[in-house]
Amino acid sequence: MDYKLEIQKLKKEKNALILAHFYQIPEIQEIADFVGDSLGLAQKAAEVDVDMIVFAGVHFMAETAKMLNPETLVVLPDLEAGCSLADSCPENDFREFKKKYPDHIVISYINTTAAIKTLTDIVCTSGNAVQIVESLPKDQKIIFAPDKNLGGYINRVTGRNMVLWNGTCEVHDILTTEAIIKMKEDNPDASIIAHPECNAPVLELADYIGSTTGMIKFTQSDTNERYIVATESGIIHQMQKLSPEKEFLIVPSDSTCNCNDCPYMKLNTLEKLYLALKNETPAINMDADVMEKATKPILKMLDISRKLKII
Ligand code: 13P
Ligand code: SF4
Repeated sequence: MDYKLEIQKLKKEKNALILAHFYQIPEIQEIADFVGDSLGLAQKAAEVDVDMIVFAGVHFMAETAKMLNPETLVVLPDLEAGCSLADSCPENDFREFKKKYPDHIVISYINTTAAIKTLTDIVCTSGNAVQIVESLPKDQKIIFAPDKNLGGYINRVTGRNMVLWNGTCEVHDILTTEAIIKMKEDNPDASIIAHPECNAPVLELADYIGSTTGMIKFTQSDTNERYIVATESGIIHQMQKLSPEKEFLIVPSDSTCNCNDCPYMKLNTLEKLYLALKNETPAINMDADVMEKATKPILKMLDISRKLKII
């Protein structure tokens, strides 16, 4: 079966759109109508007018797309595509945690379940987190969840003292300074670029820290030609495509591989995408009450991003 051809046909027939994250396999990124970071994908999902969105990403992203476009059928090629960060913040535990800080507002990274978003005042992504925090008064008390690495990074950049939930991304948190220092020794001319989900010692080594879109744009505008890249390996496809003359070296997750793959992102395949489009399942369905409450902090994020012109 020529999945690419069949997907193109079905897409037209069903008035469907494929949204994909930068961590998807190259074949999916190539067939997608839009490839982006979490912020770009949310902004896109909010503006499109189609009958169906096939979301090639993970569950919280597809759920966000559904909330921003509730009339549209949203399918996720593999419903098991979760996220360790979202899983690190169970609803009941977070509810109890929040009670300890009654005078704090909650800023949640978009990598959370809809249930956590119902307990959130403003959602953010790695692409707008610093600006969203800085848009609030200096003395505003804030709980930041669930990523302690991203939260710690924002605290350092903004001089705030947000209370951090103790969650991490299993893909980024295991990247080590040892691996990066070794790569830098072997490639002294290469710049180090990192996603803020990496731990603090890794971020300290970085010449640039940003969201996946931020990292890609940086490699396009920067004058250097070689980069040590501390994030999920799917991003290399776009970097290489947009800067074919440059060289990108992924920081491996362990000494036995030259890779760093998110096991959830990589559950999606062209075959599953084709089947999702054809069978219109698995669809994202949400409880109406949860959906109403969880959408509000996402809309706040989009509103602030629009005012600050963050894309
Ligand atoms: P961004 O693409 O928004 O930087 O997020 C990375 C990520 O972890 C997605 O799961
Ligand atoms: Fe979640 Fe990390 Fe995978 Fe992103 S890379 S989906 S944060 S587990």
